Amino acid sequence: MTDGTRGELFSEERSADVVSASFDGTPDPRLREVMGSLVRHLHAFVKDVELTEDEWNAAIGFLTATGHKCDDVRQEFVLLSDVLGVSMLVETINHRAKGVGTESTVLGPFHVVESPPRPLGADISLDGRGEACLVTGRVTGPGGEPVAGATVDVWQADADGFYDVQKPGEVPRANLRGLFTTDTEGTFWFRTIVPRHYPIPDDGPVGALLEATGRHPYRPAHIHFIVRAPGYAPVTTHVFAADSAYLDSDAVFGVKPSLVREFAVVEDPARAAELGLPDRFRTVDFEIVLLSA
Ligand SMILES: [Fe+2]
Repeated sequence: MTDGTRGELFSEERSADVVSASFDGTPDPRLREVMGSLVRHLHAFVKDVELTEDEWNAAIGFLTATGHKCDDVRQEFVLLSDVLGVSMLVETINHRAKGVGTESTVLGPFHVVESPPRPLGADISLDGRGEACLVTGRVTGPGGEPVAGATVDVWQADADGFYDVQKPGEVPRANLRGLFTTDTEGTFWFRTIVPRHYPIPDDGPVGALLEATGRHPYRPAHIHFIVRAPGYAPVTTHVFAADSAYLDSDAVFGVKPSLVREFAVVEDPARAAELGLPDRFRTVDFEIVLLSA
């Protein structure tokens, strides 16, 4: 215990100091810092709103229900962090792009299964439902050098706005997921379908919170990426479709202007035949710049 608070009893006025001081003996300095700050902010919040006992009970009930909603494929706590903007803040603080690298955004709750390795050009739409789309891109380092052998992990919602794990038994396993490796030029490409905007799962406590606060649960259409290469800092990001609804009101605050791209319409039967796509398809190009590790 530190001076000034030794033996001090709890009082409304000094509650944050008294409780914070109880952590002063924490051996790990970072844990001590985090707990002290957490206590100060939590007490300030309770005092600010003068939390009632009913509200405290409701909060405990809410967190309990949030835990109960979690299982192997449903992560309600991540959703809660997402809708409070905390996921986005942590991601942004920890992966500042410094004006050079591709900006990061939320991981989201659906990266729950390993994406299967697939050869460049593979079609990740295993059921073929939706508007065909060619995704191309290149991974470079901060100096523009191509990054060969980078892994590009992608996953996305289907044409109805669902991930494969939300439709077990209905869609093939690992539908719309793939793990690609860039070629010697740092390029990657694959075939897929245009993702649809979708609601985050809103049948649980987080959905009830959105409902009670008049917020919608939608995310604009996007494809998820995690790009990794030895010697570089990995990036977790999305490419957003420029024509999607909800670009300006993403329920999880994930949109950054630098990540929005046109999914252009291509009507070129010769090119389509070459790619094994229908005559009319869409295409998006997404360059990814990694920072040095
Ligand atoms: Fe997503």
